[in-house]
Amino acid sequence: MPKTYTLPPLPYAYNALEPYISQQIMTLHHDKHHNAYVTGANAALDKLEKARAGTLQIDIKGTLRDLSFNVGGHKLHSIFWTNMAAAGKGGGGAPTGKLADKITADFGSVDKFKAQFSDAAKAVEGSGWALLLYDHEIDSLVLTQVEKQNFMHLPELPILLSIDVWEHAYYLQYLNDRAKYVEAWWNVVNWEDVGKRLEKAIK
Ligand SMILES: [Fe+2]
Repeated sequence: MPKTYTLPPLPYAYNALEPYISQQIMTLHHDKHHNAYVTGANAALDKLEKARAGTLQIDIKGTLRDLSFNVGGHKLHSIFWTNMAAAGKGGGGAPTGKLADKITADFGSVDKFKAQFSDAAKAVEGSGWALLLYDHEIDSLVLTQVEKQNFMHLPELPILLSIDVWEHAYYLQYLNDRAKYVEAWWNVVNWEDVGKRLEKAIK
């Protein structure tokens, strides 16, 4: 049997991000969508194992694309959950310390960073993500978009902050108003988690 991925529990209650993200969205998003990526990733690994054993003929290109899509979804959601916290209980407010200094140095100000990150999130074509990364080579924070959830972002750059802008992340509450969701989402950003990820990336 190949090694398998497992669905991590949410680090807070399903209703913890209300009123900004509803309990219904969080429940479906975690238990159905994220779970489906874990199941899909394990199914792709299993297919590859069977192909090696000679008991299954596979389309290697399609299977590896499935693996990338599902592992991408699993990894991105795992970061996304921990990038958030209940408003006023670790979520929202403003970044502090080294993270605030770094954002200010690289983007001009926290407000300019938030504006550009929001622009990136709102402008993702179809389903996808906006990410904040750190590039050690140029000692700089970098923004990118991910289409769907295949890892099209710059290789090796660790992800510090992520926002899911698939419709399943907001439609039940915000309908087609992605911009409203993105603006509300800042109220649940866990800056402490982002700061810890930056410290680890810089080391
Ligand atoms: Fe999602």
